[in-house]
Amino acid sequence: MLATATIADEIQDLKRSRRAVLLAHHYQEAEIQELADVVGDSLELARRARDFHGDVIAFCGVWFMAETAKALNPERIVVVPDREASCSLVESCSVEPVRAYRRAHPDHVIVSYINTSVEVKAESDILCTSRNAVQVVNSIPPEKTVLFLPDRNLGAYVQRQTGRENMKIWQGACIVHETFPVRRLHDALAEHPGAKVVAHPECTGAILAMTDFIGSTSALIDWCVTSDADEFIVLTENGVRFSLERRAPGKRFYFINNENCNCSECPYMRLNTLEKLRDCLTTLEPRVELSAELMRRARVPIERMLAVR
Ligand code: 13P
Ligand code: SF4
Repeated sequence: MLATATIADEIQDLKRSRRAVLLAHHYQEAEIQELADVVGDSLELARRARDFHGDVIAFCGVWFMAETAKALNPERIVVVPDREASCSLVESCSVEPVRAYRRAHPDHVIVSYINTSVEVKAESDILCTSRNAVQVVNSIPPEKTVLFLPDRNLGAYVQRQTGRENMKIWQGACIVHETFPVRRLHDALAEHPGAKVVAHPECTGAILAMTDFIGSTSALIDWCVTSDADEFIVLTENGVRFSLERRAPGKRFYFINNENCNCSECPYMRLNTLEKLRDCLTTLEPRVELSAELMRRARVPIERMLAVR
């Protein structure tokens, strides 16, 4: 406990001396979220990165989120506690097949989920996050064919919401959200019959069909906090418990474990630790380094997304 308090103090001192901001995703360890200047979903964090005016962004999330922050801040230093903090969606979608698709279908509109590499973003027409994917797809003229990549579950959800037929969907998936078993949700509902069910749109259609609310991490939290209900079954990464319990201390939240790890934690997000955060603020490594040309090209679809209301 004493060691943790000392590391937290060191991080606070480093934040001041480095003129750093600490941006943390909801899926980070509670001790990281406690120290963060901003805790948010991927869209909120991208917006905060865009509006930042200090010297260093310490990004406690996964690498693609930090790449987005760097593309929006070419002159600033962006560090991540662990270089291996990737994402199964990023890994499902390398840039070569996207380039080949672009060459074969120059008239199609490529809508990329923010959970992609910066190279894939640079090949895309517009980005989206789980929070604004429906609005982004609705902003595209109806006669245009859309390629939505890489999350098949989010893509299918957007297609159901928009009714868009001319939409092709990449076949990537989130290893956390796609593996929540329906039978465990049935069991949880049998145990807590009055509970509301909330889920992230990266979950399967079978899970989403059983929900009371579907939304991004921040949207799920806001919905539970403002709902009249007292009990919730939550189908997303366990890190959201931090904000749920802080903002709605009297309510009860039940998490479903997925098949892979028998937990609901993202193995990539959880690579970041308080010690690694202290070290990256000390050494300013691992640092996101991108060519000026790649950042310039990636900024175009990022800024198009940020302009969609
Ligand atoms: P949000 O856009 O809700 O932050 O989700 C990001 C993510 O990686 C979900 O698994
Ligand atoms: Fe990627 Fe899934 Fe982890 Fe989100 S929870 S960062 S989509 S692997």
